Amino acid sequence: MRTHYCGDLNGSHDGQEVVLCGWVQRRRDHGGVIFIDLRDREGLVQVVFDPDRAEIFSRAEQVRSEYVLKITGRVRPRPEGTVNPDLPTGAIEILGLDLEVLNASETPPMQLDSHAADASEEIRLRYRYLDLRRPEMQSRLRTRSQVTQAMRRFLDEHGFLDIETPILTKSTPEGARDYLVPSRTHPGEFFALPQSPQLFKQLLMMSGLDRYYQIARCFRDEDLRADRQPEFTQLDIEVSFMTEDELMNLMEEMIRLLFREVQGIELPNPFPRLTYAESMRRFGCDRPDLRVPLELIDIADLMEGVDFQVFAGPAKDPDGRVVALRLPKGGELSRKEIDGYTQFVGIYGARGLAYIKVNEWAAKGREGLQSPIVKNLTDAALEGIMARTGAVDGDLIFFGADKAKIVNESIGALRVKLGQERGLLEGEWRPLWVIDFPMFEEDPANQRWMALHHPFTAPKEDQLDLLETNPGACLSRAYDMVLNGTEIGGGSIRIHRDAVQRQVFKLLNISDEQAEERFGFLLKALRFGCPPHGGLAFGLDRLVMLMTGATSIRDVMAFPKTQTAACLLTDAPSPVDETQLKELSLRLRTRA
Ligand code: AMO
Ligand code: AMP
Repeated sequence: MRTHYCGDLNGSHDGQEVVLCGWVQRRRDHGGVIFIDLRDREGLVQVVFDPDRAEIFSRAEQVRSEYVLKITGRVRPRPEGTVNPDLPTGAIEILGLDLEVLNASETPPMQLDSHAADASEEIRLRYRYLDLRRPEMQSRLRTRSQVTQAMRRFLDEHGFLDIETPILTKSTPEGARDYLVPSRTHPGEFFALPQSPQLFKQLLMMSGLDRYYQIARCFRDEDLRADRQPEFTQLDIEVSFMTEDELMNLMEEMIRLLFREVQGIELPNPFPRLTYAESMRRFGCDRPDLRVPLELIDIADLMEGVDFQVFAGPAKDPDGRVVALRLPKGGELSRKEIDGYTQFVGIYGARGLAYIKVNEWAAKGREGLQSPIVKNLTDAALEGIMARTGAVDGDLIFFGADKAKIVNESIGALRVKLGQERGLLEGEWRPLWVIDFPMFEEDPANQRWMALHHPFTAPKEDQLDLLETNPGACLSRAYDMVLNGTEIGGGSIRIHRDAVQRQVFKLLNISDEQAEERFGFLLKALRFGCPPHGGLAFGLDRLVMLMTGATSIRDVMAFPKTQTAACLLTDAPSPVDETQLKELSLRLRTRA
């Protein structure tokens, strides 16, 4: 039907007759001449119709935005002074010789030009097929396709097999709620959609397939955020007979290759590694944005004895934490800005945000500090704070004191916010591995252990006895890859011994009976010659979001869901017929 893509044309085609197919971006009438900007996947080109060809001219007069046209024309240089250097095809135009309207279009509900971003997200999602006509959206999907291609090529070259695993399956715990599918043939019973292919990929290792990958859809019914969708894609990987170091090195190599091939970005080699404990101590979180040069500094030991309960209390509490966060040149902050940050940490449960402005510490000591709390602190405490933070005149020091969890979350978030808002980010791409995670975290509500990763993660070999004696101190063989504050991937070496797996289930309050019912097939498989194995999964959507500079994973998915896990385009989920329910042996209960 056509000879070229619109966006591919340039001066080298001068004089050629071409046939183009595409959408009308814009039609302009100019002193008896009609200009049509014709758009296809590769870009825009300007087509000119002059009144000499009366019939074609009158057809051109009829077209509107988003009409689909087939145009025959001749490429020619644009006249002097009308060259558009911002457009790749801006040196040429097409003299229209024939025009066929392949299809008309209603007036689109949103503009598809540079004003498209003004449209509400609701409109964009409801008319997703129109939103996806925009070059910005197409470019992200193209990058996504290049990323998966490069992944496949790399994994293929390294002997990985692409193997599909079931979507209708049994619950795989990854910490979210399951999406359930009722079974017609087994009344009253349900499939779960996989939260990940975790158990199947482990079984594939037990089958001796040695190196597996899959670009796998995962389903998780959880609270959504900008980087979470109920249905998302993982690059899922599992290998046998590799140490965590070998696997991490291989995966790093793949990620470096992706960034280099697709975006021309050089990532560091090797990625730095940080233990979970160090990450929590310095950054208050396990996915630190290393571009932010601020750190949490522990000062509980300096505060135990002060006559200020807000600090002394948490300083003496084994579950408490007291930290300082030095903001260089923070003395410039206004009262209003500080109040804003105080409100911000409140979101994370902090009950206040004490601070010290360091005006003239060097010359005046205590008198040179401006702060609501200095009066409560001893000279020794103040000197300790100043020495430990390294604060100098002109700086500001923030403080957080509370249960460690609240301090970590609130001051950790403040650290990132200050880094972004105060223009402190250093370096563009700062990947790292976080390693040495604890096996378990305590669920304070139920006073029991929960798996920090998933229940199939192996404990460190030399810490197996801690499972008996002190589970809270037991470290796992898990690792997360973090990029600029986003967890882009995570995995672990797995438990490959039946007895250890049972022991971990027991600690997680899963009885033998429940374990048998939920994971009996896995426990059995572990007894038939299970090799040491491990793996990880990357969040493909998050990876592409970061690579393309998008702010939400919705922008790198063709058909994403809303924050309330609905599809506005198809209107899913939706009610079903009574007959369908009956077939499934279901009756609805009205919501309380
Ligand atoms: P995990 O649960 O850490 O591990 O998931 C791996 C990666 O998937 C991405 N991710 C998400 N992306 C978008 N929306 C979501 N709701 C969402 N949840 C997770 C993240 C995350 O790092 N089976 C294990 C992997 C393994 O142990 O091999 C797993 O699923 O980028
Ligand atoms: P108060 O004595 O309650 O007026 O608090 C004095 C200062 O300490 C104020 O600047 C509060 O914002 C701050 N503050 C109160 N509670 C905390 C806390 N848990 N962590 C850090 N600062 C706090």
